[in-house]
Amino acid sequence: MDLWAAFLNKTGKQVDKWSHYFPIYDEILSRFRGLRLNLLEIGVAGGGSLELWSSYLGQRATVVGIDSLQDSRTSNINFKNPNIHFEVGDQADRVFLSGLIQKFGEFDIVIDDGSHLPSDVIASFEAIYPHVSKNGIYIVEDVHASYFKTHQGGLKKPGTFIEFLKGKIDELHSSYIGNASLTRFTTETESISIHDSMVIFKKGGSRWKSTVNSHDPFFTADSNGLVRYTVGK
Ligand SMILES: C[S@@+](CC[C@H](N)C(=O)[O-])C[C@H]1O[C@@H](n2cnc3c(N)ncnc32)[C@H](O)[C@@H]1O
Repeated sequence: MDLWAAFLNKTGKQVDKWSHYFPIYDEILSRFRGLRLNLLEIGVAGGGSLELWSSYLGQRATVVGIDSLQDSRTSNINFKNPNIHFEVGDQADRVFLSGLIQKFGEFDIVIDDGSHLPSDVIASFEAIYPHVSKNGIYIVEDVHASYFKTHQGGLKKPGTFIEFLKGKIDELHSSYIGNASLTRFTTETESISIHDSMVIFKKGGSRWKSTVNSHDPFFTADSNGLVRYTVGK
């Protein structure tokens, strides 16, 4: 069953997502299904999305939700499923977030669907991203809020998440920029995917990066099409 089908068949607590997020989620989350992993969702309202992630990812997934309880729907959150955990706290509270990481360990999947205020989104990202596992992903939903005055936003306004993201694109490319130092973000991040209103940061193991030339005798392709450096051959 894909995520859209799981959403349509869902009973119990309500889930609030944009429809165009579903195929994107299916594409990026399908590789995690059935695995033992930790998922963190920031902002859970009544908790329906936590149930959806758990049923989609399977029994081995530990699903953790946090909410500051500013929304009345978050009261009385109670799950029968032992794989789902809920903690009350503010997404910008570093002490709370570090306690969460100590309690559950690294997260493989993080979804920020909290306040969508740039300062909160950036604070959570900076506190949690270093604790995303080696091949994990960090998703920020509803980044269009960066353009809304109601959300401290505005086009090209310094301090918004979109402007922060532009800086992260530069940081991903630090090794090509004179005098720029390589950060942990540069070395650990494999890609940043930007969709309408949704951004996905994907971590990856350290990869060998070099320009390669099919006529260079020091490179050969193996049966998988991978190119290997063959010094001394
Ligand atoms: C859009 S709702 C979440 C919907 C849910 N993820 C879903 O898919 O059904 C946003 C939630 O973020 C919570 N929230 C707002 N500010 C927050 C903050 N600073 N820290 C944590 N949660 C926050 C609100 O209480 C609300 O429940």
